Amino acid sequence: MTSVSAEIKLEIEKLVKGLNYHCYRYYVLDSPVISDAEYDTQYRHLKDLEEKYQYVLPDSPTQRVGAPPLDKLEKVQHTEPMLSLDNAFSYDEVREFDARVRRFLKSDEEVEYTVEPKYDGLAMELTYRNGILYRASTRGDGNVGEDVTVNIRTVRAVPLKIEDADIPEEIDIRGEVYMEVKEFETLNEEREKEGGPAFANPRNAAAGSVRQLDSSITAKRKLHLACYGIGSVRGMEFKSQWEFIKWLKQARFPVPEIIELVKGSDGVISVIKEIEAKRKDFSFEADGAVIKVNDFGLQKILGIKTREPRWATAYKFPAHQGTTVINEIIASVGRTGTITPVAFLEPVRIGGVTVSRSTLHNWDEIERKDIRIGDTVVVERAGDVIPHVVAVLIEKRTGKENKFDPPDECPVCGSEVERDEGGVAFRCIGLNCPAQVRQRIGHYASRSAMDIDGLGEKNVELLYSRGLVRHFADIYRLKKSDLLALPRFAEKSAQNLIDAIEKSKQTTLARFLYSLGIVHVGEYAAKLLAGNFRDLEELYHVQTERIIEIKQMGEKIAGSVSHFFNDSKNLHTLDTLKSLGMKISNPDFDERGKGPRPFEGLTFVITGTLPKPRNEVEALIEGMGGRASGSVSKKTDYLVAGEDAGSKLRKARDLGIKIISYEELVAMTKGEGRLF
Ligand code: IVH
Repeated sequence: MTSVSAEIKLEIEKLVKGLNYHCYRYYVLDSPVISDAEYDTQYRHLKDLEEKYQYVLPDSPTQRVGAPPLDKLEKVQHTEPMLSLDNAFSYDEVREFDARVRRFLKSDEEVEYTVEPKYDGLAMELTYRNGILYRASTRGDGNVGEDVTVNIRTVRAVPLKIEDADIPEEIDIRGEVYMEVKEFETLNEEREKEGGPAFANPRNAAAGSVRQLDSSITAKRKLHLACYGIGSVRGMEFKSQWEFIKWLKQARFPVPEIIELVKGSDGVISVIKEIEAKRKDFSFEADGAVIKVNDFGLQKILGIKTREPRWATAYKFPAHQGTTVINEIIASVGRTGTITPVAFLEPVRIGGVTVSRSTLHNWDEIERKDIRIGDTVVVERAGDVIPHVVAVLIEKRTGKENKFDPPDECPVCGSEVERDEGGVAFRCIGLNCPAQVRQRIGHYASRSAMDIDGLGEKNVELLYSRGLVRHFADIYRLKKSDLLALPRFAEKSAQNLIDAIEKSKQTTLARFLYSLGIVHVGEYAAKLLAGNFRDLEELYHVQTERIIEIKQMGEKIAGSVSHFFNDSKNLHTLDTLKSLGMKISNPDFDERGKGPRPFEGLTFVITGTLPKPRNEVEALIEGMGGRASGSVSKKTDYLVAGEDAGSKLRKARDLGIKIISYEELVAMTKGEGRLF
């Protein structure tokens, strides 16, 4: 070993000091003053010197990485217990908390509080002895946690040494290690690519990254720190939370992004509102705000109730996620035969609503997330959409969980099951599958479809099971006496349903098309169809190409519509419905389509620059019953050519298609000119 001179020592010390400062600028203040390359050069230089002279300072940045993997995480007894927090779910509950504090303190004056975001991460205790990071431990059960020092050293925002401030003999600093949302998403994408299970949320990702035996894994995860609390301290005294936070900042510790000192519940609520408003811009996930009595003397008087201090509370934002167990998974058959796995959950309250069911979408999703019956899962509810399983908490597995395979046959009718073109969805091919038929009828009668009041899910079920309604047409054959014989009907309800059915016979084409439950045809597509077809009969035997020509109509819908209207059984059903008195008006049919239709059956292609905008010319053609198509083919009847026409004109000439000018087109619409 080369002996180390005072000069070299000084150089090493200077390098360590400088690098630590730049680390602080970068990871805590988020405002670096040197480039990454410059940092790397200095870092390598330090590493070389350390190796050559075997002189390594405890706070050297080289000490953050490279610890050998552990066999297990050692237990750590916390000097002061790490407490949990009571919750407040409304501003009123925040006011009650303040009232409780004042009652307890018998205080006539307003109490001072600090308010800061509640970070959704992993609580950590950092113990410093004489200013040097001695140990980092997890909260554990509050009394005993796990030693994660080597892992936490890799978190660049954690100071290895207290600098720029008074140094206590020993201090326990508490804070939250967390992962930014973006980083969490990137990490999950990577894990999914590698076929590993995704983390349920940034908190689980942070916890999984810290509670590692191999610190090189922790080092790869970009973890952050926010310090907000104090445990035991020797050799120094702090009078208040605010004073402590000021010291933390000076000593280069990262503190919460927002932290304010206010008086009384009104002050507290105004900061909560500020945090709520800024929450969406936070790079991290905050699940609430933490309110603490500022004065440590008052905190002492208030003391602890079981495991929660009386001097603090957490205001919780309405939750979007909850953790629960999958009791069962069933294969549910939908209206179009699609088989969807649905999870039945141990009921859990999420944001004020009890959730007991969750769609699992399809088997690809089950496989990707490795969801099994008996699993503990994180469920998310966003707005009014059906809750979904975000991820499985693999660590909760007992080995008793069961996989749920796709069914070989329809669980309702026993028909064959087919995989969709995309290979993702399974579909029951049974045309008379009771599950499908019941739902088709339910859809037909629903509010945005035929709007038959009184024909909801339960009654459809009943009428179906009694064999009274097995098809749309059967609805119109129902008699009041049929209904009166059923348990769910009395004189009035039976009459109401009969009246509603009668009323539904007057309908519009758009509604009717939607009601038929044609695959892929939602309300909007139904309206588009109605706008382009004069009446139902015009749709009979329609070809896919004719529908694709309608703007916004895609191939999938077009194919499905054409398939439906070329099936003789379907056409028979439609005729039956009409014979039962259905009157279908079509107010959506485009006015331009009415009146003379000299271009009926003709296809036009427009090319080159015309005196009018292209969409106007197209509208003119369509208004006369013609079709405006984008490409020239043998089926093209006319090419309307303007100036600078190119390849389409050549192709039309080659195919011998009639070529006309815009003026000739206009003349044709007036019945002048020639109709070829
Ligand atoms: S103070 C007695 N402040 O919330 C005071 N905790 O539910 C205890 N947390 O275990 C902690 N952000 O993991 C405090 N700004 C913050 C916090 C915070 C997140 C977590 C912490 C604690 C849990 C209590």
